[in-house]
Amino acid sequence: MTQYFSRLNAISFFSFSVALCFLASSALAQDIVHPGYEVAPERRTTGIGKFYMGREISFVMGHQAAQWLNRPSRIQEEMPDQVVANMGLAADDVVADIGAGSGYFSFRIAALVPEGKVLSVDIQPEMLQLIEEQKMRNRVENVDGVLGEIDDPNLPAESIDAAIMVDAYHEFSHPFEMINGIYQALRPGGRIFLLEYRGEDPSVPIRPLHKMTEEQVVKEMSVFGLEWTETLDFLPWQHMMIFTKRG
Ligand SMILES: C[S@@+](CC[C@H](N)C(=O)[O-])C[C@H]1O[C@@H](n2cnc3c(N)ncnc32)[C@H](O)[C@@H]1O
Repeated sequence: MTQYFSRLNAISFFSFSVALCFLASSALAQDIVHPGYEVAPERRTTGIGKFYMGREISFVMGHQAAQWLNRPSRIQEEMPDQVVANMGLAADDVVADIGAGSGYFSFRIAALVPEGKVLSVDIQPEMLQLIEEQKMRNRVENVDGVLGEIDDPNLPAESIDAAIMVDAYHEFSHPFEMINGIYQALRPGGRIFLLEYRGEDPSVPIRPLHKMTEEQVVKEMSVFGLEWTETLDFLPWQHMMIFTKRG
């Protein structure tokens, strides 16, 4: 990455900061400062050429590949049932699944919160349509699709107990604004579960921009003063990182 940056610097790398406009935003707590984004004229094949805190953001996975999210091998690769079992949810929790895709995690979580609900947020209406179809097919009543925006999960303030992002955060084109929206939506004491393929491990067979290191995730979450509660490392390829909004 360091080498990559040096190369970019040499070919008229330029940066800009959008901190000021966010400081003016009333939704932003006073002590949260936007670190800014950088854009590069040259980019990696799976990146969008936009950097956040030294990380190039990946492109968004299109809905055309939605069936890949439901591949049978994912049960061994990502152990989804163990993931949701490790969230420690209460039956009446409200959980936002941000970047929900086809709902692979949403429906598993819904079964654990029979008196609560899951808000499945995605920016692609086609993904929400798939969720709606599964909801009808299986007569599930506690999953609601929410059409998000690239820079806003569109969730009311202090309305959720937990948010989960699985293999999604690395492709948010506006990570600062997204975490700000999630942070505002969390109730005090609420938790964020962030799962990404382990960037430290070259043996994890995923392209580099679709992985994140623990250090990078902690750096990005610390912008919001989120408490890094723990990292669960029982998954074959991913970190399951837990952050808590201070009460
Ligand atoms: C690789 S898929 C993962 C889907 C799901 N979490 C899973 O594990 O099966 C990432 C999803 O994030 C969504 N996404 C990307 N940017 C987003 C944003 N700013 N807000 C909400 N969803 C977003 C994409 O549309 C895509 O459906």
